Amino acid sequence: MMTRLAILVSGRGSNLRAIMRACSEGTLRAEVALVISNNADSMALETARTAGINTAHLSRQQFSDEAELDQAMLHAIEEANVNYVLLAGFMKKIGPRVLAAYKGRIINIHPSLLPSFGGKGMFGLNVHKAVIKAGETQTGVTIHLVDEEYDQGQILAQRTVEVKTDDTPESLAARVLIEEHQIFAETIQKIIDGSIILPGQ
Ligand code: GAR
Repeated sequence: MMTRLAILVSGRGSNLRAIMRACSEGTLRAEVALVISNNADSMALETARTAGINTAHLSRQQFSDEAELDQAMLHAIEEANVNYVLLAGFMKKIGPRVLAAYKGRIINIHPSLLPSFGGKGMFGLNVHKAVIKAGETQTGVTIHLVDEEYDQGQILAQRTVEVKTDDTPESLAARVLIEEHQIFAETIQKIIDGSIILPGQ
């Protein structure tokens, strides 16, 4: 059976597109079964719809509390019958029901070498700004399991990117993103073919 993926996105969705490309090229032997965004205007939802992938816009706009949103997300993911849930630039916390049901199968990409430059508020350009401000000479990408705390789950893969002396947050983000697009699909394929074994599997 083909591995099925649910992908959660908030923004432009370049990591989603990289995963979709890897699936269609066959370097990632999986299919994107569902794309969820908390942001109705996310380009990612449009990309997915155009490719004929099921999409859902789920946010606090539609639900009176976090628990209801968590339940709706769980329902959508269960309906899609997926093996893994990937957070590809998803900027919201995953609710306890989804976490419990998919424990050890929710995988995030983060644009730094965790545990450095992780935690609350550390997302997108904020990460690269902090890396440059701290005078780091190296940064990178981390693929990790998601647990209850931001950016603290088990690390599955990392790749290093050099910080240049004339880097701006934007130029650094762009170089990190190139690595993100490769390492995310590669890591998922390693999980599928068993060269990375997730705890409990
Ligand atoms: C990516 O750089 C991803 O690593 C980061 O958001 C960007 C999303 O870009 N994620 C985080 O910061 C998570 N804390 P994309 O929408 O083009 O894939």
